[in-house]
Amino acid sequence: MKTHEIRERFTQHFVKAGHQAVPSASLILDDPNLLFVNAGMVPFKPYFLGQQNPPFPNGTATSIQKCVRTLDIEEVGITTRHNTFFQMAGNFSFGQYFKEGAITHAWALLTGSLEDGGFGLDPERLWVTVYLDDDEARDIWRDKIGVPEDRIQRLGMEDNYWSMGIPGPCGPCSEIYYDRGPEYGAEGGPIADDNRYMEIWNLVFMQNERGEGIGKGNFEIVGPLPKKNIDTGLGIERVACILQDVDNVYETDLLRPVIDEAEKLTGSTYGDGAPKEDNIRFRVIADHSRTGMMLILDGVTPSNEGRGYILRRLLRRIVRSARLLGAKGATLEQFMNTIMDTMTPSYPEIADNRERILRVALTEEKAFLKTLESGTKLFDEAVEELKNTSRAKTPKVLSGDKAFELHDTYGFPIDLTLEMANEAGLEVDMDGFNEAMGEQRRRAKADNQAKKHGHADLSIYREWVDNNPTVFTGYEELTSDAKVIGLLRGGEKVTEVSEGDEVEVILDQTPLYAEAGGQMADRGRLFAGETLLEVGDVQKIGKKLWVHKATVTAGGLDLGQSVTAEVNEEWRHGAVQAHSATHLIHAALRQVLGPTAVQAGSMNRPGYLRFDFNYTEQLTPEQLQEIATITNQAVDANFQVNTIKTSLEEAKAMGAMALFGENYGSKVRVVEMGGPFSLELCGGTHVGATAQIGPVSVLGESSVGSGARRIEAYSGLDAFRYYSKETALIEGVSRELKVQTEDLPERVAQLAEKLKAAEKEIEHLRSAQLAVKASEFLAGAGDINGFRVLTTRLPKGTSGKDLRTVATEIRNRVRDEAAIIFLAAEDGPKVPFIAAASDAAIARGVKSGDLVKRFGEFVGGKGGGKPDMAQGSGSNAAGIEEGFAALKSYVESL
Ligand code: SER
Repeated sequence: MKTHEIRERFTQHFVKAGHQAVPSASLILDDPNLLFVNAGMVPFKPYFLGQQNPPFPNGTATSIQKCVRTLDIEEVGITTRHNTFFQMAGNFSFGQYFKEGAITHAWALLTGSLEDGGFGLDPERLWVTVYLDDDEARDIWRDKIGVPEDRIQRLGMEDNYWSMGIPGPCGPCSEIYYDRGPEYGAEGGPIADDNRYMEIWNLVFMQNERGEGIGKGNFEIVGPLPKKNIDTGLGIERVACILQDVDNVYETDLLRPVIDEAEKLTGSTYGDGAPKEDNIRFRVIADHSRTGMMLILDGVTPSNEGRGYILRRLLRRIVRSARLLGAKGATLEQFMNTIMDTMTPSYPEIADNRERILRVALTEEKAFLKTLESGTKLFDEAVEELKNTSRAKTPKVLSGDKAFELHDTYGFPIDLTLEMANEAGLEVDMDGFNEAMGEQRRRAKADNQAKKHGHADLSIYREWVDNNPTVFTGYEELTSDAKVIGLLRGGEKVTEVSEGDEVEVILDQTPLYAEAGGQMADRGRLFAGETLLEVGDVQKIGKKLWVHKATVTAGGLDLGQSVTAEVNEEWRHGAVQAHSATHLIHAALRQVLGPTAVQAGSMNRPGYLRFDFNYTEQLTPEQLQEIATITNQAVDANFQVNTIKTSLEEAKAMGAMALFGENYGSKVRVVEMGGPFSLELCGGTHVGATAQIGPVSVLGESSVGSGARRIEAYSGLDAFRYYSKETALIEGVSRELKVQTEDLPERVAQLAEKLKAAEKEIEHLRSAQLAVKASEFLAGAGDINGFRVLTTRLPKGTSGKDLRTVATEIRNRVRDEAAIIFLAAEDGPKVPFIAAASDAAIARGVKSGDLVKRFGEFVGGKGGGKPDMAQGSGSNAAGIEEGFAALKSYVESL
């Protein structure tokens, strides 16, 4: 049974039982404690906690959630069941059915016949676990379902009490396992062997709230949830592994094609006979290709921190594994294409994003291959050095420091270094390497510790994020009365602050816009009586909490106090102009370049905006002009700017450009300008109608990193200022040249033409003048050893080029004699010199090159050329006369 069908059967089973089918949320949900969505229940958290009412008709839902867990990335390919990306299918009850309902539903689907839409699993092969004292669950399994008592096992907190690992909903759980048979391990149920007995479904009886604590087993239960809920998670990939009768989760219909592709590209083979290491690498390639692709699909791009770093690490592990398997060049394109093919039936949105996904992946691969190349160079040099230094008999060892440098600076994983060392007949000092790694880890830890005391640790904001999200009033008003509900100084909570303090203020409501969606935060003030705080920045924690960074410039402020919060009006005016202008430019850009020009980022502040987008080619001046024209026409059309609050689904149907990180059922805000002209999901502040933006002047475009380009523009008065500065400049030039501005281009062309002619003329005159001089110089030539010899110092400022002109001229005049000409001059700090010899002189053995070489020694310079003419340059003018004398005595000696 194909994975796609397993998904369908799951959903149908629960829809038939009245559950609302909810699409998967993005992998990136807004939770300060969560890098990626890692369980099916994450998007439903507020319903479990009773913070929001579930919007599902029967109070039940079902979903197949995309999940990423990268904690045990090193386990991938080693065990048979660890995927970094997996699909968690779940059914959820919010205060509706509880243990019995969950157990009955699960059993019916697993053991139901194929004809009836079930998975047709043999009940004899299913085992279950329950929490230590959960007799209620045990009774249901034994008495209602009929699972024999010896196939029901009890496990403790670590295994059978589920929480998110952080404060939130939690409860005891019951897990269902499938016995894969004796060839997979020892008898004795899940407590004996979790490889043979594979966990497939976890039923969580979500009834309590968890407090602070460590890990899975050691936390406090704060109290019961408002209602008893159900959260279940079935691993789609594991069920596929069983139903497709394959050995492990990397060989299912979704991932196996990637392994096949890797076999073709690397020349190595996968499977039973192959080395264990190789098999692991194949599985890593398959697993990471899918996770990487799905992350890019949801908007992650490689970087050096956070989510981007995980993606980078995954992609690099693929490249490295392929290389270790024998691939010579790039491979990601084939892997990505294959995995996109297998995943598209379940995720049709991949089809629209293929090009973008490939671009992101291939750019990263290219960069990494380059890194590998320079690392390989370093490695080769080290090997070369070792070969030259160590004696033949002793084993050659690459130092731990070198291996660490390769790892640290070039991103060389140690196994790659080991492999390469092995090929080169070397050993690697692993103790030294581990020591260097340990040292680095200690440093990183200390660094993290330091950050914790700064502001990087967001958990301090947790209570407000969960309980007192900020109400934003700034769409409607610029001044609001508010209450101080949080105060922080130096990253610590305080109850009062006083004059001169740099503080963070949390209000129950605020009109100040927090930096988001590229729009910079509002500037403004908080005041009450004598007290005044200047707000320099406002940042959001998660999507819900506004934190004002302010300086207390007068008076003091207490927790609980009432204040007036006021936006700086001028600032806001400029900011909305720039932000609305950004939307227009985005729309214009897509009209001109087509839909593949996808937004990659933007920034707008009063008067200025920049817009980054994915596009591989440089824009032509005509394209830029067109974008600027369309933008300003849209300003001129004075489109009404409407904001519509609607559901994500509705917004997508309207054609609004989708954003990442939105969730099913989320209310989103669509900003519309001119109907279909511009529709964007956006939380920013905007003008009321586009004419209020004022002029938009596009400054130009440039490249920002691989595959991305940037347009910059001024808006409003700043656009006017820019134009008037340009105009003043042009008018100044036209006054200077005494022509009308429209005649400027022609005039400048004329002038350039004239200048060129004048320069030619000057050159001509100079040559003529030098030619005249040549006769004068020649008069000073003397006879040495049957040669006519001329050594002359030309006036200061004569260049090497001029020397050549004169020397050529003189040489022409003494064609029939055995003549030697040597000229030198002082030209700034340089001392150019030249030697020329007539044919008759050459016939007697004179070589101009010899002459310049000899002379060069006296003026501190070098030179060279042909026998008939050679030139050089030195730096010591004081040696010129001595050099001439030396030349003369040389000619004497010939
Ligand atoms: N939340 C549980 C899990 O992640 C069941 O969905 O395993």
